[in-house]
Amino acid sequence: MTKRPERLLAIDVLSSLLQAQGSLASLLSSERLNRAGSPALLQELCYGVCRWHTQLAFYLQQLLDKPLRSKDLDLHCLLLLGLYQLLFMRTPDHACVNESVEAVTALGKPWAKGLVNAVLRGATRRQEELLARAQRDYALWYSHPEWLLSRLKQDWPGQYRAILDANNQRAPLTLRVHAGRTSREAVLGSLQTAGLAAEPGALAPQAVVLAQPIEVTALPGFPEGLLSVQDETSQLCASLLPLAPGLRVLDACAAPGGKTCALLEAEPGLQVLALDNEARRLPRLHQNLERLGLRAEVRCADITVAPAAEFGRFDRILLDVPCSATGVIRRHPDIKLLRTPAEVDSLIARQRALLRAAWPLLAPGGYLLYSTCSVLQAENSSQLQAFLADTPDATALPLEIATAQRCVVGVQLLPAVNGPDGFYYALLGKHGA
Ligand SMILES: C[S@@+](CC[C@H](N)C(=O)[O-])C[C@H]1O[C@@H](n2cnc3c(N)ncnc32)[C@H](O)[C@@H]1O
Repeated sequence: MTKRPERLLAIDVLSSLLQAQGSLASLLSSERLNRAGSPALLQELCYGVCRWHTQLAFYLQQLLDKPLRSKDLDLHCLLLLGLYQLLFMRTPDHACVNESVEAVTALGKPWAKGLVNAVLRGATRRQEELLARAQRDYALWYSHPEWLLSRLKQDWPGQYRAILDANNQRAPLTLRVHAGRTSREAVLGSLQTAGLAAEPGALAPQAVVLAQPIEVTALPGFPEGLLSVQDETSQLCASLLPLAPGLRVLDACAAPGGKTCALLEAEPGLQVLALDNEARRLPRLHQNLERLGLRAEVRCADITVAPAAEFGRFDRILLDVPCSATGVIRRHPDIKLLRTPAEVDSLIARQRALLRAAWPLLAPGGYLLYSTCSVLQAENSSQLQAFLADTPDATALPLEIATAQRCVVGVQLLPAVNGPDGFYYALLGKHGA
């Protein structure tokens, strides 16, 4: 396969992203990564520009005499990449400027050589002044959209700056050890033998946190189905939902199956029905079950439209609803560019509908675990408070997680530098036995 320079591939990815033509994860397909001489550099460039986009776009605006035309989005992305390399990656000035100037020829815009040269040289010259201006404005300094910054501040007045800091870090690679096939100690031992530094997770009993990210298929034990990639906070679902052999469990928003598999590894005797309304996401769920040697019934269905009688009653329900993903921004920094307040409102409405549709499927005496990877109260504690207010047969049950914030309903884990993702859990019990 002919290789293409990382910078040009990154321009393709970022241009599509800024035109809302996909997410970072979907645009950085393995096919595109394999076209780069260094897939790691391509990832670093794309993730880095997304992580610092608000700040970089401000610098660019300051450095340009007049805004670029919309048809020059490729140049806009080239300049963001150059600024990221100069100001965040500490790439030597001459290398970065020369390579960026050369790239305009490949873009078919040789007329822009002078412009690219002037902007990037201006950035190195005015670096201190630009940083000082960004420092005066939290949205710029932490590189978050204004609307998200104000929601975080409103929801977490004492913690929002730590959240913003954590959102701008690279996330650790965390593994879940398949309890039915091996032990955490054995996995830590084989990682050590392979020269890979790792530690047991502090929150979840099967978690192993690697010191450095690595291609997962290269991990000892991964191809054999001893390991899965999953943050500790997601793994907790198996500790928080009371499990026992023979229980009928509904995983109502299951794909790609991370939590379905975590539940089954913790208690293989469960009878799990895994549903998702997006057929295209189900093959991954099947693959995960197969790789890990687990069994569940998998169906494409939407509980908010399918007649309840079709499913019967369940002893346990896991409702891992679609959400703003504001707890996992460090893993998906493009969320800061793509997510809008209107989208969050529509997600809140979907979560409400899913809660209402799931509840009648829970048997009396059963438990429903609601979860999101959001840190916004409106999707979490406030959502559950509203549900409990008009669901007389539901009670919120206490959950204990070290380091979690106790909410009016449920518990919130906040993203932490070198720690786990942001995640929310609430456990509801249904009256009657
Ligand atoms: C947060 S993801 C679930 C992640 C999954 N639980 C895991 O741990 O791998 C939310 C899922 O809900 C699905 N979904 C959204 N609306 C749904 C609905 N009305 N009925 C069923 N699934 C739905 C989405 O397709 C998506 O796969």
